[in-house]
Amino acid sequence: MSQAIEYEKIGDVAVLAANNPPVNALGLEIRKGIINGLESAEVDGAKAVLIYGKGRTYFSGADIREFGKPPVRPFLPDVCDRIESSPLLVVSALHGAALGGGLEVALSSHYRIAIPTTRIGFPEVNLGLIPGAGGSQRLPRISGVSAALEIITSGRHVLAPEALELGILDEVQDGDPCEIGLSYVQALLQRSAPRRPISELPSPAGIDFDAACEAMLKKGRGQLSGAVAVRAVQAACEADSFAAGLARERELFLELMGTDQRKGLIHAFFAERAVAKLPELKGVEPRILHQVGVVGGGTMGAGIASAVLLAGLPVVMLEMSHEAAYAAKNRIASNLNGAVKRGKLSQSDFDEILQDRLVLAIDYGALSNVDLVVEAVFEDMEVKKQVFSSLDAVCKPGAVLATNTSYLDINEIGATTSRPQDVIGLHFFSPAHVMKLLEVVVADETSLEVMATGFALGRRLGKVSVRAGVCDGFIGNRILNTYRACADHMVLDGATPYQIDKALTDFGFAMGPFAVSDLAGLDIGWAMRKRKRAEGLNPQARDSTYADKLCEAGHFGQKTGRGYYVYEPGKRTGTPNPDVMSLVEADRDAQGIVARSFSDEEILRRYMASMVNEAAKVVGEGIASRPLDVDVTLLFGYGFPRFFGGPLKWADLQGLPGILEDIRKWSNEDSFFWQPAPLLEQLVSEGKTFEDLNAHN
Ligand code: COA
Repeated sequence: MSQAIEYEKIGDVAVLAANNPPVNALGLEIRKGIINGLESAEVDGAKAVLIYGKGRTYFSGADIREFGKPPVRPFLPDVCDRIESSPLLVVSALHGAALGGGLEVALSSHYRIAIPTTRIGFPEVNLGLIPGAGGSQRLPRISGVSAALEIITSGRHVLAPEALELGILDEVQDGDPCEIGLSYVQALLQRSAPRRPISELPSPAGIDFDAACEAMLKKGRGQLSGAVAVRAVQAACEADSFAAGLARERELFLELMGTDQRKGLIHAFFAERAVAKLPELKGVEPRILHQVGVVGGGTMGAGIASAVLLAGLPVVMLEMSHEAAYAAKNRIASNLNGAVKRGKLSQSDFDEILQDRLVLAIDYGALSNVDLVVEAVFEDMEVKKQVFSSLDAVCKPGAVLATNTSYLDINEIGATTSRPQDVIGLHFFSPAHVMKLLEVVVADETSLEVMATGFALGRRLGKVSVRAGVCDGFIGNRILNTYRACADHMVLDGATPYQIDKALTDFGFAMGPFAVSDLAGLDIGWAMRKRKRAEGLNPQARDSTYADKLCEAGHFGQKTGRGYYVYEPGKRTGTPNPDVMSLVEADRDAQGIVARSFSDEEILRRYMASMVNEAAKVVGEGIASRPLDVDVTLLFGYGFPRFFGGPLKWADLQGLPGILEDIRKWSNEDSFFWQPAPLLEQLVSEGKTFEDLNAHN
């Protein structure tokens, strides 16, 4: 008997206990073990079989690590059919997560009982797949098509009480899964409950599947799996038999298994988990955090304070005056109010946070007892230095001193203190209580313990934390500045901002770069350009002034109602601003540029190549530890379409030689901008991919 499934006969009941930590994924040994267990039960004289999971969960799903490798028998659909067709009564007792293949095993069982905290669902669409072992055929037969479609196409986790209401579970009861399972089996045997194969239920009534498919395609912005899932559920309604429906599901599943989208989404799944696993942090204990300080209560500081308060930690908010402190409190209250409306915070917790856990202060002395302080003041080196020398004077020894700077040199900031080992960058993204990304920026002197504390805080706040090194813009903004510059160059050379935005939303970005600038505020880019010009631009670097002209006229994007687009009051999407192209043309004339046309394909190739090239520099220089750190940064902070897995996964899937060839070709027209990254050249010459670098770490 396989160890992955432990077999024991208790009275009339054969108990199959899954023992495949950490999450009882349905790998080969588990699949074999279930089949062997059923065979043993059938020859052992058992009357019923109980299936449950040892440890933290029932089967959490198929073993994702096996996807993309040659499948090995028994396949999961065969295991499910074997369970359902067993002559014995088969019952599953669920706890933890019964997701994907796990739910399919449960649905193949004749009865299902679960403890109340169990989560069920079909997350396959988020991995670029659909249920592949009968889930799309069995679920609609017991929950109806609407509920099944919603669950399968959203991938959401459904809690046991809701699943009970939907008829997906038969019983919900608190207790140990083995114990509640056994007594449920006994009760079923006592009342001679029949076997109940879902496959024998009639086909469910259909809906307008073409419309549902169309809606999913639109919602997925190019992601296919949701729309394909609709077609699989359609087969449950329309196929001639259950077996024919299963065959259709299998066919669709295998089609998706071969797509780049599946590869990208599974890369994203593992990258998101790998990003916080850094060899240098192994065994390093973070410092304990009881109280956090925030300096500066503008949009960013208030967002950071809100995130910390929502995670249950008290905050001291330092501002320059009573008025500013109250304004900060109002911003925080408004953020938290949003959390109350979304059901993430109770009214009583809201009241308690504002009354007891948020302390307003206008004197640095109030920060003498905090364990970590995040500075979120104006983005100016002199101002930051003053803040840090004040913090150095008042904060207790061992307090972590963090800056939320987006691009300034944290080594320089640390050097103004007597304790640079305690100084770190914690770069949040706006709105900080919503956006998932946190760049943990490690300066030359930052201690490992302080870095571990940054990651621990990120985890506590529910963020995805990425380690970054010090450079202008760290990982994300540095790469953004490059691909944004590429977009500006294309506008100068003949494309329009609107054509570029459209090409990129067609690619899968939620917004194009010009719409993003309008949202963030054009003044941000303006300030950056002024700073860079003041520092002295390289004479070979291209520059443009049309965006400055918009700012000079007081147009900062959405917040002023006008930028690249014009926004009706209260609307968040706009129409092209008719003034923009004449500003662009004036710029072209001044620089003697004759506009040429760009195809959408060329726009995409240039934009993506500039992103990949800068990302390769960021990895090559050690600013990002691995390619996957760049991927996660762009996925969680910059709206990169998840189904491509991130820019470097996308590059691997495209093939690196073609991207390098483009860059070399374009360097003939602009050798300053299109300098190939040494790492990209090295990978191409060695016939390697970015993924090879992920695997070596
Ligand atoms: N196959 C292979 N490995 C899996 C896995 C799966 N289906 N699900 C989780 N793991 C691994 C994770 O990669 C992680 O490995 P690591 O410790 O080496 O990083 C470990 O199991 C724990 O997972 P994690 O997500 O950190 O634990 P959690 O308690 O936060 O969440 C789940 C548990 C099951 C809810 C979550 O892992 C999950 O959603 N898994 C995917 C389930 C899924 O999509 N199933 C359908 C597949 S068809």
